[in-house]
Amino acid sequence: MQLQPSRNLYVETYGCQMNVGDTEIVVSILQREGYVPTETLDNADVVLLNTCSIRDNAEQRIWGRLVELRRYRRRKRGMLVGVIGCMAERLKEELLQGEDAVDVVAGPDSYRDLPRLLAQGGGANTLLSSEETYAEILPVRKEGVGAYISIMRGCDNYCSYCVVPYTRGRERSRDPHTILREARELFDRGYREVTLLGQNVNSYKPDFPDLLRSVAEISPLLRVRFATSHPKDLSDKLIETIAEVPNICRSIHLPAQSGSTRMLERMNRKYTREHYLEIVDKIRKKLPDASISTDLIAGFSGETKEEHEETLSLMREVGFDSAYMFKYSERPGTLASRQMPDDIPDPVKTARLSEIIALQNELSAASNAKDVGKTFEILVEGVSKRSDAQLYGRTSQNKVVVFDRGGVRVGDYATVKVTGSSSATLKGVLRKNVQ
Ligand code: SAH
Ligand code: SF4
Ligand code: F3S
Repeated sequence: MQLQPSRNLYVETYGCQMNVGDTEIVVSILQREGYVPTETLDNADVVLLNTCSIRDNAEQRIWGRLVELRRYRRRKRGMLVGVIGCMAERLKEELLQGEDAVDVVAGPDSYRDLPRLLAQGGGANTLLSSEETYAEILPVRKEGVGAYISIMRGCDNYCSYCVVPYTRGRERSRDPHTILREARELFDRGYREVTLLGQNVNSYKPDFPDLLRSVAEISPLLRVRFATSHPKDLSDKLIETIAEVPNICRSIHLPAQSGSTRMLERMNRKYTREHYLEIVDKIRKKLPDASISTDLIAGFSGETKEEHEETLSLMREVGFDSAYMFKYSERPGTLASRQMPDDIPDPVKTARLSEIIALQNELSAASNAKDVGKTFEILVEGVSKRSDAQLYGRTSQNKVVVFDRGGVRVGDYATVKVTGSSSATLKGVLRKNVQ
C-alpha cells in the first residue's frame, strides 16, 4: 500500500472475453496498491480503457471515446487516462501523441507495471512476454453465477487476416494447478459455471481434455464451458471427454470463417471445408444433443460470389445454432494486409454479410423451434430484462430460456419445458426445482 489517499479506479472493457478476464486481473493488481474500483466515471481518479483491435470499427469506437474523455478531463484536473489491451499494444506511439494523447499505455503482458506507470503520472509499457500468464493473481470479479478463467494467453496461429498474434504475443499455457485452485474457489464462493478461455483452447499444454475433466470433477454442480476451439486442433479425445462428463456443457464454438477451401487456405486456417464437415459429423455422432456455433467473415480478400455461396451452403449443411458474423476488416501488419489486397468493395461485403445474417436468423429460429416440447435442465442466471416476473437461464447447449418465476432463485438449477421459441430465445415453463 502506498501512503497516499485512496484513488478511485474506473475501467471500461471492450472486445472479447479475454479482455473481460484481463480487466479483472488489472483491478486485482491495482487494488493491492490501494486503488478502489468504482462503477462510474464521475468519481474516478484513474480511467482505463481496456481495448480491442480486431476490426477497424472496434478501434474507431475507442478513438471516439477518447475525444469524449478529453472534454471530460478539462473539468477534472488530475484525472489520469490510460489505454490498455490490444489497441495499446498496436498503437502505442499514436496514443501518446496529439490532442487526445493519453497518460498511460500498457499492453496485455505489462499489467504488473501499471502501478508504477500510474504512480509516476504516466508512461508506456508494451513489452510482450513469452511467459506471463498472471497465474497467481486472483481476479477481482463481480458476484455472479458464471465466471471466466483465462487458461492461456497469446496465439501462434497467424490466420492471415488476424491481428491477435501481434497484439497478444506468443501462445503460452497457464499452470493447471492455479487454474484448478481458482475454479474450486469460485465454486466455494457460489459460482455455478466457469468458462475456460483462450484463443485456441485445444492447444492448451500439456492437455486440454484432461484439464477440462479435472475442472468438471470439482463438483457435478459446476458447469464447465470453454472458448474458443480451432477446428484444426479439435481432437477425438476432446469430443469423448465431453461425452463422458455430463457437466461439461454440450456447446461447441467452432469458428469456420468461410465455407470455401480456397478462402480457408488464403486465411491460413489449416483445414478444408471437408475437414470441417468431418469434425461436425464426429460431434453429431458422439454428442447428438450438442449445439454448434461459429464465426464467419464476409468479403475476405479475393472472395468470389461462388466462394461466398460456399459459406452459405456450409451454414445450411451444418445448421449452426448461432453465429458471430463479421465483414472483413483489413488489419495493418497482418499477412493479408501485406500480401492480399482488400479488394471486395464495401457494398458487396455488406450485401454478403446481410445474406449470411439473414440465413443464420433462419437457422437459429429452426434450431430453437426444434426445442419446443423438450425439457431441459437450466442454470438460472438472472431476472429477465423485459419483466421482473420472469427469470432466465441457459441450457447446457447455451440457449437462453425465459420463464415465469416459481420457487427458484438465481444460481439454482431448474427443469423447464420449452413452450415457445424465436430466433433469439426460448420460452419455457418451470417443471420442478432440481436443487
Ligand atoms: N481465436 C478465435 C477468434 C478470435 S477473434 C478463433 O480463432 O476462433 C474472433 C473472430 O473475429 C474471429 O473468429 C473472426 O471471425 C473475426 N475476425 C478476426 N479478425 C478479423 C478481421 N480482420 N476482420 C473481420 N473479422 C475478423
Ligand atoms: Fe486470430 Fe486465428 Fe489466432 Fe483466432 S486462431 S486469434 S483468428 S490468429
Ligand atoms: Fe480480444 Fe479484440 Fe484483443 S478480440 S484478443 S480484445 S483484438
